[in-house]
Amino acid sequence: MGPLAQPLRHSGSQPPDDAPTSRLEMSGINVAFGGVAALTDVSLTVEPGQVHGLIGPNGAGKTTLFNVACGLVRPSAGRITWRGQELRRLKPAQLTGLGIARTLQGVGLFPLMTVLENVMVGAHRHAKAGFFSALFALPTSDKDEHRLRERAMHALTELDAEQYAGRYPGSLPYPVQKRVALARALVAEPDLLLLDEPASGLSEEEMHELGDLVRSLSGQMSVLLVEHHMDLVMRVCDRITVLDSGIQIAAGTPAEVQADPAVTEAYLGDEVEAGPTTASTPEGGATRV
Ligand SMILES: Nc1ncnc2c1ncn2[C@@H]1O[C@H](COP(=O)(O)OP(=O)(O)O)[C@@H](O)[C@H]1O
Ligand SMILES: [Mg+2]
Repeated sequence: MGPLAQPLRHSGSQPPDDAPTSRLEMSGINVAFGGVAALTDVSLTVEPGQVHGLIGPNGAGKTTLFNVACGLVRPSAGRITWRGQELRRLKPAQLTGLGIARTLQGVGLFPLMTVLENVMVGAHRHAKAGFFSALFALPTSDKDEHRLRERAMHALTELDAEQYAGRYPGSLPYPVQKRVALARALVAEPDLLLLDEPASGLSEEEMHELGDLVRSLSGQMSVLLVEHHMDLVMRVCDRITVLDSGIQIAAGTPAEVQADPAVTEAYLGDEVEAGPTTASTPEGGATRV
């Protein structure tokens, strides 16, 4: 197991074996951009402690649904329920307080903060000091500051990125930036982790480690995994929802989805024809079906 595969251990105040109990339900979601339907009556439930995959061809609406879950896109119809409570007018700034963390498609680190500072922002949920004091090293106490740094360094170490703590994100290779973004999401010890294409730009080996990491997280939190690398999705997900042109065309276990002709036709056709061994995708990743 590589360093990415080591689970981030709960530390301090939380009991180590607290089973996740938080369910995310999205139902009847509709989104239109300029009159063009991006999502039509889509429903998806991320069960507590499960890894839920969201797949589909480019333009299927995956990121749009992800953004609905983040509060970045407001649906014209539908409900989002988190831990049994409807989230109306959800805003991204509320996520951390709700126990939800995300990484965006791309990286999304703050370019003018060091790697360590970026991760410290993610740890804010556990810090007693305010947001700005945490950022600008004006903590209410040195102890808060110290604990925040320790937690952030711990998360970086778990993701084998501690050696980059003092660097600025823009100076680092893309896969390292992605690990830092993941450390920033995990340091808040969320109950729900939202990942949009975490494997893009990663090597085969890094992708495998990412898969092990996501699997190891599932005992501690729920994960919504938006991904187009089939082998990763099939390996790590408990359940999968398939979108095509903003419509849900299939849902079920990896085996069920794989066997669904609608999925084969819409999304997996070429890759299935490529045979059971690993084939290259245009994105440079590998796809096995
Ligand atoms: N901000 C936006 N403005 C207009 N159209 C958008 C916007 N975001 C996404 N779309 C459109 O919505 C559809 C779904 O896109 P997206 O959710 O990004 O798909 P995916 O992530 O599955 O590739 C596409 O047709 C895309 O062009
Ligand atoms: Mg997308």
